[in-house]
Amino acid sequence: MTKSENCLTYSDKIILAPMVRVGTLPMRLLALDYGADIVYSEELIDWKFLRTMRRVNDVLGTVDFIDRSDGSVVFRTCAKEKDKVVVQLGTCDPDRALKVAKLIENDVAGIDINMGCPKEFSLKGGMGAALLKQPVKAKAILSTLVQNIKIPISCKIRVLPSVDDTINLVTELVSTGISAIAVHGRTKDERPQHPNRNSTIKKIAQSIDIPVIANGGSREIEKYSDIGKFLEECGCSSVMLARSAQGNCSIFRRQGQKPLDSVIVDYLRYAVDYDNAPSNTKYCIQNMLKELQETPKGKKFLECQTLEQICALWDLGDYCRRKELEYQAKGNLGRRQVTP
Ligand code: FNR
Repeated sequence: MTKSENCLTYSDKIILAPMVRVGTLPMRLLALDYGADIVYSEELIDWKFLRTMRRVNDVLGTVDFIDRSDGSVVFRTCAKEKDKVVVQLGTCDPDRALKVAKLIENDVAGIDINMGCPKEFSLKGGMGAALLKQPVKAKAILSTLVQNIKIPISCKIRVLPSVDDTINLVTELVSTGISAIAVHGRTKDERPQHPNRNSTIKKIAQSIDIPVIANGGSREIEKYSDIGKFLEECGCSSVMLARSAQGNCSIFRRQGQKPLDSVIVDYLRYAVDYDNAPSNTKYCIQNMLKELQETPKGKKFLECQTLEQICALWDLGDYCRRKELEYQAKGNLGRRQVTP
């Protein structure tokens, strides 16, 4: 299908990587504020999405996809990210993937297929990295979406142990007409402590003519200026950051990172504004605090159960209370995002 005019493009971009539980709306908006060009959602499983109904939430100013059985918000988005958000799907089935894509194509900028997740849940379900071994199925999913959906389609893979096998696979995937491919330079069995295969990413980028988004460099990327070196080694113009953004999202700031407490304050405002679930908010802040959870403030934080309690630790207790009252006055408060 001809893609819409002014659609998302993937060259020269700095991108927030898909991260389960981390890539919910507050983190995506924060990454955009700090300078990310594109933000990926956490991986959302196709059949879970198919249990949802779309609802415009006038109180929060969001579009929510709500699970029909338990009322939880599976995906929440808003106008501010509409042109920049890519939803990542976990799927092993072209028809199911297409049904989800039809459900969301007017609310988001792009759709990505996860072909790199090494977790047992994905592999057993034939999703994620299982698709690297099933190119026929992987291609069927991508070409079904490319042919029937008006927004760009991409996929995110891991490399295979052999460079040639990886290039052959990528060439096959690119033949479906996808708009970009993100490559994490580790194999399915390699873990974060293994070096990222930057030279393989470079060879892939030299072999195909769509944007390759280099991924896997967080260990080498401690500050904004490290991004350029990683891109050069990978021969790419676009990069996708996961762990470095999870730890301090202001990595996207050209002017340099902000102190962590200031990032947490910025994050919490969005968590309050978009009624993010306290459990999800807490998880994201824990990932920022890391060993600081052992400090007296960190220990107090771990005891918090409500958004207001968390906010109070960063002097936002009044802000949180005011917003909650404002939302209650407007009527039905949007249902909270519940993540697995
Ligand atoms: C991930 N990663 C990941 N990848 C993906 O395709 N879909 C996902 O939902 C997730 N979820 C996820 C959660 C968390 C907490 C982490 C740390 C990672 C993998 C991620 O996108 C990326 O490929 C790797 O982390 C390597 O990139 P970095 O971290 O070196 O920038």
